[in-house]
Amino acid sequence: MNVLALHKLSVGHPGHPPVLSGLSMQMRAGEHVGLVGPNGAGKTSLFHTIAAVLPAQAGSAEVRGRAVRAGHFDTDIALVFQQAEDQLFCPTLFEDVAFGPRNMGLPEPEVQARVAQALAACGLTGLEDRPVHHLSGGEKRRACIAGALVMQPALMLLDEPSAALDLRNRRRLIALLAGMDQALLIASHDLELVLELCPRVVLIDEGRICADGPARAVLGDTALMAAHGQEVPHSLTPHDGTGHRHVRSFP
Ligand SMILES: Nc1ncnc2c1ncn2[C@@H]1O[C@H](COP(=O)(O)OP(=O)(O)OP(=O)(O)O)[C@@H](O)[C@H]1O
Ligand SMILES: [Mg+2]
Repeated sequence: MNVLALHKLSVGHPGHPPVLSGLSMQMRAGEHVGLVGPNGAGKTSLFHTIAAVLPAQAGSAEVRGRAVRAGHFDTDIALVFQQAEDQLFCPTLFEDVAFGPRNMGLPEPEVQARVAQALAACGLTGLEDRPVHHLSGGEKRRACIAGALVMQPALMLLDEPSAALDLRNRRRLIALLAGMDQALLIASHDLELVLELCPRVVLIDEGRICADGPARAVLGDTALMAAHGQEVPHSLTPHDGTGHRHVRSFP
């Protein structure tokens, strides 16, 4: 069964014209897909619609065969917000990560075990009692990821997961996500991260899906990338023996 199916979905904000229209795509269970596109293309808006935060303007989204209804949150989906401050709201890190499992009504020993596991996976063990507003930017981002992991969702929506991470924590995040059995939809401008994690990439721009295919074919297509304000990632850029020979899309 598909973990996610979009049928002619239109995404937008109340009182405004649609940001994205007529989107149709599916994701299989366990599939890792990159979502790329320029600033304002609608990646975050799409995530908010799939996560039932924002109502669809037309069409539908289904998660494991169940229609998404705005305001009805499905524990099969976890969203890692682009802005950590939009996600973290409890007094301490522990309480924040424990919020979802407690809300699901899990027994307290299971809550404790899941939180410990999620914090360890995100390198946050020892910071349990830290007020969330005293975490560093990168720690906040990892706290958001822990808050999604702890739900053990079938589909994780990760909105710019590597933003604000240092190299070691970016690498740790890539290793963590690469080992996940769950389906991942990863919106990112970090195209090297997308290449490492996602065999498939969806490119959105101008209100629609412009490409949906193998990551190396989509991200390596110089003309396609340039047409949508993107640049072929460094690792897919041809090099010769004497040094770099990049074809730059922009001056
Ligand atoms: N609450 C809102 N009300 C009206 N318009 C909004 C709202 N939030 C976002 N938009 C608009 O919707 C469009 C898509 O924004 P969105 O945040 O989804 O883009 P994005 O692809 O995530 O961009 P970025 O790469 O900068 O994160 C933009 O034109 C933005 O200005
Ligand atoms: Mg965004």
